[in-house]
This record gives sequence, structure tokens and C-alpha cells, in this order.
Amino acid sequence: MAIILPELPYAYDALEPYIDAETMHLHHDKHHQTYVNNANAALEKHLEIGEDLEALLADVESIPADIRQALINNGGGHLNHALFWELMTPEKTAPSAELAAAIDATFGSFEEFQAAFTAAATTRFGSGWAWLVVNKEGKLEVTSTANQDTPISEGKKPILGLDVWEHAYYVKYRNVRPDYIKAFFSVINWNKVDELYAAAK
Ligand SMILES: [Fe+2]
Repeated sequence: MAIILPELPYAYDALEPYIDAETMHLHHDKHHQTYVNNANAALEKHLEIGEDLEALLADVESIPADIRQALINNGGGHLNHALFWELMTPEKTAPSAELAAAIDATFGSFEEFQAAFTAAATTRFGSGWAWLVVNKEGKLEVTSTANQDTPISEGKKPILGLDVWEHAYYVKYRNVRPDYIKAFFSVINWNKVDELYAAAK
């Protein structure tokens, strides 16, 4: 067994004009494939630990030291991207009544949640991710991580994530990360977020 690159759940051009097909090809076929290849190369050095990346990254100290950072980077890169593809859709979706109520209770309103998420995505310096997570207390929280670090390593369950590495937006949006963040809100797959929320809380 080895980790394999999952196929996109939609066509490469399905998220146009918000996310362009060229970016999707590069991002999925090249960047994500590289994380998969490098994660497999690390895991092959320690067959005894298996390949349950979520379990391994939930307890990074359990990962053998010689492959720990490689798995944080590339195992995290694989998990984050596999989730990211599923969190987008060309279909119009909306949060369930239950999730909408939790968002209102936590942030005040959907608009205030969007502002908090946008701020997290905008201010993440360099490469990383913005997240909506269910934290250890079972509450919603907006956060961000550097590089390919996953909130799973902090005991948090990600239910929405946005890749803010330049490779995610530079082809279409150049240096204007805020326009890409705004566009992302037009393609969020709230059905998937609902499903993750129901499982996480
Ligand atoms: Fe990426």
C-alpha cells in the first residue's frame, strides 16, 4: 500500500472563474503529487509505523525523528490538499441550519465569521493555511497554520481550510491574495463542511 493522489471530485475547470483550470492542474497534478511522493518516500523508511497520516500527525512526537519533519510537511501537505479539494464545489451550497446557528453563536454573524476567516488567511505570513476548526472544547474557532502544518497536530478538527500558499493563487490573482480569499467563498462546499462539523463536534 501507499498513499495515492485522489482524483478531483469535479473537472479541472469546474471552479472557473473563481479558481482557474491552470491553477488546478498545477496545484493538484504537480504540487499535491509531490507531497504524496515525498510522504511515501518517508513512510517507506519506517514500515512499522503504518500509513495512517491523521493518527501519526495527531501525535507528531510518535513519528521517528528522522522522518518527523518530512511527514509534517508532506503527510500534512497530502491531508490538507485532499481535504481542500473536497471543500470546494461548482454547486451552490449553504451551511446547514445547525452549522449556521453555531457560526452565529460563535462569531456573531456569518459576515463576522467571514471577516475573521479572511483576516486569518490574509495575515498568515508566507505560506500556510486558514482554518475553521472544532477545538478541544467542541467549539468553532478560526485559526491558521504555517507551511503544511495541520490543526490535527494541535488536537483540533479542521472543517474548512483555505490554502494560502502562492501556488494556490499566483497564476490568476498574482500578488493579490485578498481577491483569491474572496473568490474562495463563492466555491465553498458547505455540504462537506456540514458533514465534517457533524462528525467533529
Ligand atoms: Fe497547495
